[in-house]
Amino acid sequence: MSIEVKTAASIARAKTEVLVVPVFDGLTWGPGADEFADSLGDALTDFLTAQEFTGAAGQTASVPGAALGFARVVLVGLGGELEAEGLRRAAAVAGKATTANATVATTLAAVDLAGAADLVVFGFTTGQYRFTRHRSEPKPAKTTTLTLVGEGKDRGATGAILAQAVAGVRDLVNEPAAGKSPIWLAQWASDQLEAVGVTVEVWDEKRIEEERLGGLSAVSWGSAQPPRLVRMHYKPRKRTGKLAFVGKGIVFDSGGLSIKPAEGMMAMKTDMAGAATVFGAMWAIASLKLPVEVIAFAPLTENMPGGKAVRPGDVFTARNGKTVEVLNTDAEGRLVLADGLSLAAEEQPDLIVDVATLTGACKVALGEKIAGLFASDDEVAGRMTAAAADAGEPVWRLPLEKEYRTKLDSTIADMKNTGDRFGGAITAALLLERFVGDVPWAHLDIAGPGRSESEEHYITKGGTGFGVRTLVALAQHTADRTSPTSSA
Ligand code: BES
Ligand code: MN
Ligand code: ZN
Repeated sequence: MSIEVKTAASIARAKTEVLVVPVFDGLTWGPGADEFADSLGDALTDFLTAQEFTGAAGQTASVPGAALGFARVVLVGLGGELEAEGLRRAAAVAGKATTANATVATTLAAVDLAGAADLVVFGFTTGQYRFTRHRSEPKPAKTTTLTLVGEGKDRGATGAILAQAVAGVRDLVNEPAAGKSPIWLAQWASDQLEAVGVTVEVWDEKRIEEERLGGLSAVSWGSAQPPRLVRMHYKPRKRTGKLAFVGKGIVFDSGGLSIKPAEGMMAMKTDMAGAATVFGAMWAIASLKLPVEVIAFAPLTENMPGGKAVRPGDVFTARNGKTVEVLNTDAEGRLVLADGLSLAAEEQPDLIVDVATLTGACKVALGEKIAGLFASDDEVAGRMTAAAADAGEPVWRLPLEKEYRTKLDSTIADMKNTGDRFGGAITAALLLERFVGDVPWAHLDIAGPGRSESEEHYITKGGTGFGVRTLVALAQHTADRTSPTSSA
């Protein structure tokens, strides 16, 4: 159900219901808006002024478009300086303003910015996202075609793939826990990823035991749903570098026996956003045929307080042989990630990145829009920061403070799974650090930006798909580092 993107050399050739044109601050006409203004004369300026439309970012105005042969012309504000995120957002605003129209044309991609078509297609499509499958009367956006008007022939294919990946992640995150058991999610990943050339292996509970994934096992005991471990491998013939991704896949986090209060549990179907992000990134990287090897792991389980549940005080042995005392069963994400990170480290990649809705503390520290970034060294931090900036996803580095390592000291095991009241995002990351060996590693805590309570520009309420674009940009940058070498 994706939008078909077409190109047209001129406004006259775009035979659509609606035309969207950009306007900069102070009613400075962007591409196409000048043509429209010429056809209407002062009337347009007067009308827009009366509507208090100035061209500020996020503004829209709808005007009868008969002068140019459209039912309607929508003007969208681009604000002052043009940059990538502003264009994504303006395109999203355009998408939201035209959900009732089957055919839409826009001159937004004709602005003077590299990769404009990708940004416009991504923003437009992602802004129109709706999660409709549980409505008795689904009302999805009606737009079926988007025509990019301008000289270029770029249809924004990369932007379309990113938008599709993000929509897939949002669907998974928004799906109620009852509809996304670990078995179902693993099957979804197999179906979607094998279709684009990723090799997918799914380990069942027996194999998980045999492989000594003690953290994933322990967390799964309290649930009636058996766990799964999804291993994904994308290995193109031409490639540079080898990345590994790990995603936290808790399909529902009740807290386990250290049960959460009702309020804290309401959004916990979204606790598999890290795994979903990894699925989405793998799908996009393979669909884009990026010349980089990527191996990924998604430990999937449900954190429940059933009769067999792991108890506060229980000790398990993780994949890497380390023992962990579980003092708070609600600190479960780090336990399943520990094993995922061990598996990733064993593959000896150049870089491991894990993505997880890991700590409420990170959300408290950075707010709901910024992900916490932890990196094993400055070079890794630089690579991640550059990828995130390119992707337009805000991240902020937090320290892996050595002084805090003792917060994880256990009286009976190698470590305990929680620190004290303070610096919770850091202690969680410090636990993860113990499972990556000496492989360069970055951890993205997306507890804040993985879901949204509000609708703005291309962010829709619920799952956001945050992290997909950063991982894809990281893969793009990795592929660009040196020219690919060919091998079997
Ligand atoms: N899934 C939660 C973290 C979370 C909280 C994500 C809010 C998104 C929004 C995680 O498993 C958790 O429960 N963490 C605890 C850790 C604590 C028990 C040490 C937390 O953050 O309170
Ligand atoms: Mn938890
Ligand atoms: Zn959790």
